[in-house]
Parts: sequence; C-alpha cells; structure tokens
Amino acid sequence: MKNFKTKYGHFSKDGKEYVITTPRTPRPWINVISNGDYGITVSQTGGGYSWRTHAQLNRLTRWDQDLIKDEWGKYIYLRDEKGNVWSAGWKPVCNKPDFYECRHGVGYSVITSKNFGIETELMMFLPNADPVEIWKLTIRNRSKKSRAINIYSFFEWALGQSPDWHREFHKSFIETDYDSKSHSILATKRLWEVPTDRGHWNTNWPYVAFHSSSLTPISFDTNKETFLGMYGSQAMPAGVSKKTLDKKKGNWLDHIASLQNVINLKPNEEKTIIFNVGCADSKEQAIQLAKKYHSAENVESAFVQMQERWNQMLNTVEVSTPDDSMNLMENTWLKYQAISGRIWGRTAYYQTGGAFGFRDQLQDSQIWLMIDPIRTKNQLHLHARHQFNDGTVYHWWHPMSEIGLRNQIMDNLLWMPFVMNAYLQETKNYSILDEAEPFVDNITPESMYAHCTKAIDKSLERFSSRGLPLIGSGDWNDGLSAVGLDMKGESIWLGHFIHRILLDFSSIAKRRNDANVAERYSSKAKVLKETLNTIGWDGDYYFGATKDSGVKIGSKENSEGSVWLNPQTWAIIGQVSDSARSEKIMDIVEQKLEKEIGTLLLYPAYKTPDKNVGYLTRYSPGMRENGGVYTHGATWSVIAAAMLGRGETAYRFYSKLNPINRGKNPDKYVAEPYVTSGNIEGPNSKYFGRGGWTWYSGSAAWLFKVGLEWILGVRATENGLQIDPCIPSAWKGFNVKRTFRGAVYNIEVKNPDHVQCGIKELWVDGQRHCMTKGPREKIIPSFEQGTSHTVVAILG
Ligand code: GLC
Repeated sequence: MKNFKTKYGHFSKDGKEYVITTPRTPRPWINVISNGDYGITVSQTGGGYSWRTHAQLNRLTRWDQDLIKDEWGKYIYLRDEKGNVWSAGWKPVCNKPDFYECRHGVGYSVITSKNFGIETELMMFLPNADPVEIWKLTIRNRSKKSRAINIYSFFEWALGQSPDWHREFHKSFIETDYDSKSHSILATKRLWEVPTDRGHWNTNWPYVAFHSSSLTPISFDTNKETFLGMYGSQAMPAGVSKKTLDKKKGNWLDHIASLQNVINLKPNEEKTIIFNVGCADSKEQAIQLAKKYHSAENVESAFVQMQERWNQMLNTVEVSTPDDSMNLMENTWLKYQAISGRIWGRTAYYQTGGAFGFRDQLQDSQIWLMIDPIRTKNQLHLHARHQFNDGTVYHWWHPMSEIGLRNQIMDNLLWMPFVMNAYLQETKNYSILDEAEPFVDNITPESMYAHCTKAIDKSLERFSSRGLPLIGSGDWNDGLSAVGLDMKGESIWLGHFIHRILLDFSSIAKRRNDANVAERYSSKAKVLKETLNTIGWDGDYYFGATKDSGVKIGSKENSEGSVWLNPQTWAIIGQVSDSARSEKIMDIVEQKLEKEIGTLLLYPAYKTPDKNVGYLTRYSPGMRENGGVYTHGATWSVIAAAMLGRGETAYRFYSKLNPINRGKNPDKYVAEPYVTSGNIEGPNSKYFGRGGWTWYSGSAAWLFKVGLEWILGVRATENGLQIDPCIPSAWKGFNVKRTFRGAVYNIEVKNPDHVQCGIKELWVDGQRHCMTKGPREKIIPSFEQGTSHTVVAILG
C-alpha cells in the first residue's frame, strides 16, 4: 500500500495511522477522539481540549479558537538537572527536538520526541466506557549519564460552558482540592450555564473533575498566578523553575491543574508515568477512576479493548480497489471521522460544537447502516423527539440544556423520512414505523410513520401558488438565508428533494396498506415533477431559486452565481429529469462546475453581498458556499454521475474530493490529508485549492457512502443487496467485504472488458445467478444471519 508521503507526513504501513513528521504543519493537524461520551481533541503540537457529553456546554479544559496560534492545550513540561526545559508535545516550549513524530490513530494519538538525550512517548486515548482520558508518558534515557527529570503537567480548568469569555466571573465559582491518597487534583464549580426549572443559571456544575498521576507527585498547583507567574509565560512558566510547586488550592484563584513528578533514570533506563484527566459524577467516582487508571495493567487492557471496539466497527466493510487512497479513506478514515468526530464528538478545531443539527447528524448516522444499523434507528428516534407536533423540527438543539433553534429553513424536517427510507432499505425492519415517540410540544407518543408523514405533509403545505416549494430562510444551503424570508421565494433543489421523498414514501405507505397516503404522495410527485420541469428549467439546466420578488437566482440570467450544483445533481437523484435532460445537466456540471479540486457548489462566486440572497454572498468570493467546493454537497455529484453510468466521471469527482489527493500539495491545501475538509476554496479565491473546516463536515459519511454504494456499487435495496459498479474502465476489478442483514458478502468484481458499468455474469456461492433484470439491476437476496457468501460479478 502506498503511504502518500509529503514533507509533513505519511500514512503508516497498515494505513491505520497518519504519521506527522514535523510539528510545523501548515495548520493544526488534529485528531478528534471520542468514546461516545467523553472526548478530546489533540493537535500535532499537543494542543487541544477535553469535554464530556457536550463540547461546548460541558468543556473541562479551557481552549480558544485560534487556528494559527494553536496555543491552548493540556501540556507536559520536562526539566532536566541542568535546567533545560522542553515539552512532551513540542508546544508550548517549542524546543528544537532531535526527533519528533506525532501519530494520529483510530482512537489515540502518540507524540514521540527526543530532547537533550531524553526520549518521551506521550500516548493519549480514552477507555471505552469511562469519562476519562489517559496520557501515558514513557521516558527513556538515551544519554550516557544518570538523569533526574522533573515533569509538570499543566492545563486550565473550564468546567462548563466554553469559551468562558467572562473568566473573572466564572472563576469565582470554581473550587479546587487535592486528594493526596489518590494523587488527584479535584475541581468543582458551583454554577452551570444550563437553565433550571427554578431560574436561569442557578445550579451546580454536576460533576467532579480530576487530574492525577500514577506516581506520587512531589507537589502540585491549581493557581495560574503562581504556576505561570504574573509575568511568566506558557513557554516558560515560573513554576517549572521552582524546586517545588506552590500547592495553592481552594477558591479565589484562576484555576489550573499542575502536578509535579520527579523521575530518575539510569542510562538506557525507561519509566512510565500515567496521567489522567476525567469528569466524574461524584468525588468518590473521581477518586476511584483516578486510581483505576494508575495501574499499568488497567491502562493496557483499556487500550486493547478500545482498539478491539474500533476494529469491530471499521471492519464490517472493507474494500480493496486499485486505488490505495480510496481504500484508506473507505476502510478507515471516513468511518472514523464520521463516528468519532461528527456523531460522538460533534466538535473539532474549525467548528467547536456539541449540539445536534437536525439534518446533520441524521445524515451522518447513515454511516451506521453498514456497521450497526440499530444506531441509525436510535438516531431517528432521538430526532423524532425533537420534532414539533405540526411536523416542523429544531434546526439544532443542545443535549444537556435541550435548548434549540427553530427557524424557517425548509429542508430540515425532511431528512427524517429520507434517512428512514435508507434505514428501511438496509434492514427491511418495517416495525420501526410502528414504534412511538412524543413531540417536543406534545407528550402523546405517535408512530415513527406519523412523525415522517407529518414532516412530509408540512412540507407540502409550504408551496407557492405555482406549485414550487418555498425556500424560507434556506434549503439545504444555510447560506441562502434571506432568499425567501417573506415566504414567497422558491427552491428548485427542495422540489427535487421532496420528489425523491414522495416516491420513496408512497411505496412505504403502499406497503402499509395506507392507500390514501400512497396515492396522495404519488400524484403530488407527478405534478411536482411536471412543475419542476417546466417552471424550474432554465433552458440548459435547472435554475436555483426565486427570491421573494420573483427574480430567479442560480440562472443564466444572473452574472454571479449563474449555475448551481444541487439543482442539477438532485434532478437526477430525485428522478425529476428525463434521460436527455439528465445527460445535458451532467455535461453542464462537468463543463462549468467541475474544477481540478472537485465540483463547485456554484459558479461564478458572488462578489457583491446581496441582502435578498443571504450570508452566502457575504463570504469572500470562492469561500465555502460562495463558489467553493462545499464537500458535503459535492459528494452528491458522484451519485448523479454514477446513476448515468459515467464511471470515469463519478470516480474523478470522488478522487478530487479525496483529501489524500488534495493533500498531495500540502502547502496549498494546508488541511489534514486524512479527513475531509468542509470546503475547498474555488477559482474565485486568491487561495484556490485551500482546504478548511476539517473534521466537522457532513462530507465524511457521504463520501464513504457514495464510494461504496455508487462507485463500487454495493448498495442495500428492499429486495436485497444490489451490485452495480460504476468505475473507471481502466480498473481490472476490485473486492468488497460487507455485512448485510447479518450475513457477510465477499464480493469480487472483475472487469475483463474494461467497461464502466453493467454486469454480464453474476455468481453467488459458485452458482450462476439468474440474469432476468437489466445489467445495472442485479440484486442478490439476503441470507440467513451469521452466514458468509461469495459473490463474483463480471462486468461487460
Ligand atoms: C453546514 C450545515 C449543514 C448545511 C451546510 C450547507 O455544514 O451544518 O446543515 O446543510 O452547511 O449550507
């Protein structure tokens, strides 16, 4: 396997680690590690922060967003007998190391460096089920003399909402203590920024935070003033040159945590010290967890269990294609990003969050379909509980406080029926539709089917007099925030999206013998299709929207933003365009929107802010939704191309989005090459090709899905597993291992005639499979759970 080496790093041999070989990457290159509740971010310089359950409302350690400085972290300082000082993670001291390497892996990061003859290996990870992070620091004496090394940990307590912009206010409520038996600094706060039934912000932060070390510290400090020094700095704190720290604790401080340990090492001797940071429910639990993870055996077994859990999740789908960069992303990194970053962590460096986006995490939860579909089901239930009785939903809501935002963005509610359909295709588990959930404003539970139809029916009410869906303050594209504020403007993309959902849900209704709904949805779909194809057609392609004034945007009549991507790709995905139009609009996408970095969301970018379009037009031209490659939206162009049988095109679109390919020019792309970015700047930007907003992007789950389902063509359908590859003709073949309804399918695809799509022979467990359907409609039935099957598909 290729390792895609650049001057900043490369993948490990098995592809499961990204190895950064210099701390000076063009931007922070981070890992977002979460166990589903507790989480940490770690940058290649040792920067980052910790949280439990909610990265914004329940932040443990302070951190401020600054992608250039990256100067907030949980740090370890080392001082030798001569007074040389350095950090285990490079920052904040930034000594020039003799060796440095940061390995970001699945569920852990390790920073190894060598300074002044001492090698340190700092491994950070989280056990599967405890709200705690482990920092295992191994120190090796590589010099010829015996050494005495002082080790100081350091970070600042946040304990609640972050950023705590009014620190002088917030620090008044924090209290620290030291428990010498468990070597733990304990921290509590008597205020939490979560409203209670008796008033706003009048409750304790309900946790006890702790920081401890396996060795007995010789001293500690929880006071920023004595540790850093009034005129000290993070790079050279006053405390690090003191013989022992000041042991300040209690109230009235600016609270930090620092433990001082001393390690003596003979030449070539190595010792390990384990630090932990955690967020317990009580003081007893804090002490118990601190002690539990002082034990090297407990830490070792927690690490092994963590790896087993990730392997289990990632190994349910494995691909082997002629493209190593695709294999790396599909087998490891996209799934990891979607689960650890987007669903569990819901935070990163460019966007620190914690909330659930109604449409965002529902789309992300499609990643679970092939891994553990119950989790998609749980996500559907969670979102159903955040729907209102009239069918509308929160745009986002905060777990813990349950505060949410309602707005006039029109597509949010429809992602529930959309993902429900995907869940049903995968599992055929129709009983979910009869499971009941309440609404935000109605405690009487109703079926999930009712939740979905309420969403669809609400959308059908919000149509213009000429039969197109209203755009309100946005469709999928949040940046179109002012197009239809007067509830007159219309969205063509939303029409295509609704059409898709009407087709899917009329079949679901039919299956439930709900003939009225089935009929209503299919006749509505017919009329909508007709309207989209008459009013929505701009001559050569579909325009984007109409403003409240009736003026078209995303149209050839406009000089800026004259062609949009989503109304083209979804005309195909939503089965709105006939085949002649589909070919035509895909030509337009290839000619006008495809650039070397992927498919642009629109072109050309808006240069002048338009208050009747929205904040999209206020971004610098070429950035994000304003004429950049908005990677989440761009993944849909892969589906559209594959649906038309354009294998070369689908693969090209995919490859351009693949961060490994973008990252081959790291000084231009700047972002991490192992996870997707949210956006890549378009040709109207001076920084054409620069990536940003990494990790926290809906593109991760979608890129995985389009790669597996539409390029490799292995996708779930009601009647079984469909095999419909759409690949570049140069490929000789590929393999996919995938679990489907409890059975394992080992699929080999051969392409002796070098075609792009179409199956001429299909063999299942050595038997020729019946070939009644067309070359692109081959479906293998589902098998008994626990069985394993071989499938050979010959294209041609
Ligand atoms: C952001 C939002 C997402 C939206 C997209 C496009 O990523 O989180 O919900 O669809 O922007 O504007």
